[in-house]
Amino acid sequence: MNLISLQNLSTTDVMEIVEGSLAIKNNPERYANILSGRSLALLFQKTSTRTRCAGEIGMTQLGGHAVYLDWRTTNFGLADLRDEIRVLSSYVDVILARFLKHADIVRAAESATVPVINGCCDLYHPTQALGDLMTIQEKFGRIEGVKLTYVGMHNNVCNSLIAAGLKGGMEVTVVAPETNPASIDAKLFEAAEQAGVYKVSDQLQDAIAKSDVVYTDTWIDMEFFMDTAFEAEKKRRMKVFAPYQLNKEVLAGHDVVVMHCLPAHRGYEVSGEIVEDPRSIMFEQAENRLHSMKGLILKLLGKL
Ligand code: CP
Ligand code: NVA
Repeated sequence: MNLISLQNLSTTDVMEIVEGSLAIKNNPERYANILSGRSLALLFQKTSTRTRCAGEIGMTQLGGHAVYLDWRTTNFGLADLRDEIRVLSSYVDVILARFLKHADIVRAAESATVPVINGCCDLYHPTQALGDLMTIQEKFGRIEGVKLTYVGMHNNVCNSLIAAGLKGGMEVTVVAPETNPASIDAKLFEAAEQAGVYKVSDQLQDAIAKSDVVYTDTWIDMEFFMDTAFEAEKKRRMKVFAPYQLNKEVLAGHDVVVMHCLPAHRGYEVSGEIVEDPRSIMFEQAENRLHSMKGLILKLLGKL
């Protein structure tokens, strides 16, 4: 079993991971040696704080071991991806890969002989969505029927929330002036729309008023943030997206919880005041990445 996108998992699998992750969080000692002698390889083309730490520290806390491979310091760039993944598969029990392109994570999963986890590509961020579902279950005691409005750039994180909506019966409304061209998944949007768990709106206030959760993410994905060739596009986006910033005015009078996958760009997609607002559960959400990564790894290894 792999986790390339949430669509690959059944609803039962997703709910088992959510419940299992909560059990791990509440009784970590029960799982302390469960992965003794087991290894995880993290293979990253992009930067990371949460996903990397969740994988590495999660394995340590489960009694296993993790090895972090920065793509640029490996020989992956010199060879066929499939050959190197076959080799890696013979060393470890699970591979967590953060690749730029979705097609590469699919190729990796095809040639791996151990489970492969997508640690965020241009199209999806499924481990984020698992942590988010866990956080919503923890906060509301349910996922089904919870109303979430995603505000900002329709991107990989937004796609995985829509996929999560399909699995858990969570209703996702997207208020986004633009969709990242690399993140268009017409099949997912159609399926979720038909299931009645996804709609697009241009009425920000109305959508927030009907929400339990308001969620945002960066307007610029990490691989472009420091790219000087992206400067003009960055400036353009700041103008287009400014009215979609989550701030005190936009959220005034709304009894919602505010989520963000982090890293937050204070003053851009979210104001610093909202990061610190009592309605923000961003830091609990970030902590849950650790517990949900442990739940996922145990599920993939048949140990949950
Ligand atoms: N939310 C998230 O995936 O964070 P990192 O990019 O730091 O892993
Ligand atoms: N959409 C963001 C998510 C970061 C966790 C990105 O891809 O950079």
